Amino acid sequence: MFKGKNVVLGVSGGIAVYKAVELLRLLTKAGADVHVVMTRNACEFVTPLTFQTLSGNPVHTDLFNLYQEREIDHISLADRADLFILAPATANLVGKIAQGLADDLLTTSVMATKAPVLVVPAMNTNMYQNPIYQRNEKILVENGYHVLEPASGALACGWEGQGKLPDPEVIFETAINVLTPKDLLGCTLLVTAGPTREEIDPVRYISNYSSGKMGFAIAAAARRRGGQVVLVAGPSTLAVPEGVRCLPVFTAEEMRTAVFNHLENVDVVIKAAAVADYRSADRSVHKMKKNAEQLTLTLERNPDILAEIGEQKGNRVLVGFAAETERLLAHAAEKLKKKNLDLIVANDITRQGAGFDVDTNIVRFLHADGQVEELELMPKAEVANRLLDRVATLWKLRRLSSQP
Ligand code: CTP
Repeated sequence: MFKGKNVVLGVSGGIAVYKAVELLRLLTKAGADVHVVMTRNACEFVTPLTFQTLSGNPVHTDLFNLYQEREIDHISLADRADLFILAPATANLVGKIAQGLADDLLTTSVMATKAPVLVVPAMNTNMYQNPIYQRNEKILVENGYHVLEPASGALACGWEGQGKLPDPEVIFETAINVLTPKDLLGCTLLVTAGPTREEIDPVRYISNYSSGKMGFAIAAAARRRGGQVVLVAGPSTLAVPEGVRCLPVFTAEEMRTAVFNHLENVDVVIKAAAVADYRSADRSVHKMKKNAEQLTLTLERNPDILAEIGEQKGNRVLVGFAAETERLLAHAAEKLKKKNLDLIVANDITRQGAGFDVDTNIVRFLHADGQVEELELMPKAEVANRLLDRVATLWKLRRLSSQP
């Protein structure tokens, strides 16, 4: 997301300046070219040298510094930026921007930019609640600025309450959100993730190695792109992505019920879950005792949820997954056809960096028209976005074709 992006990080004076250093590290690690602009007060808390060393770019502090102006002035900072992040943003900075004041390098650059601006205020809780501050913040929001509200907790000034700069990771995530095109706005997606768990007795179950990482990554990316996301998730330790409605389930039957309860109003279904194909035919109410030398379990078939959706697909975009250990393309193509899918994501789980419980994947997209795309090894978050690029196109075409 940040690769090749030009980010201006505006830092104004407050104790939370040290957190901006960590934010800078996250941004540069993600590939952003970060130009830091500091107000005079910010330099009292952390020296420009720290930001300069970590960004690899000169830090801008002064509107009328001839050397800096020659290198890069406030207009070119503003023009080149893909994103401005103001963190921490003091009450003074927010007030100046809201009132159209531009008396230093940071405020002049903010006023001159057409890039999105993410404002992250941090201040004493009474200052934050002050109606004049609140009015200024409202002016920013009404004018299209993105504001990430401060966190609550113990403040450096000794007070407890709202006013803390959110953690750098939260600011980083919000910045990704701001930069992400909302091409799934108006689209409702149902995503399934994780394994299912089929009980044998109260202490044992049948399941698989799925962690849910792929499905959760798809849900998070779809939400970021503006979609309404319902995530039906088998047992998983992963955090539910912000803004996603999660319905936790255990068994394939429960997953089926949750899916069909929500199917009617859904535009896209992405079935990333690794559903257990069989369940115990005679689940024991009590813990089974080890009496015999051998034990035979009788299993019965679970419903094939995706195949059932395929039978009543309507206008929906339907995506399945095929995790295979051999004859990848043949098996995936067969599932694509049999389950009436638009696209299937095929991966060979025996390859290093692909499959369950890792953060990367190596996948191929098989389309209903026979087209096959081969993707290199990449993080699951990126696989999710590549997949959603295809899904967004299919969804838009479907919408167009259903218009009278
Ligand atoms: N799937 C499903 N319900 C099942 C089994 C699978 O909805 N009972 C979905 C999965 O979520 C996935 C796709 O079907 O999107 C393919 O799942 P996979 O386990 O690879 O294939 P199966 O159809 O179960 O076939 P097999 O196990 O024989 O490979």
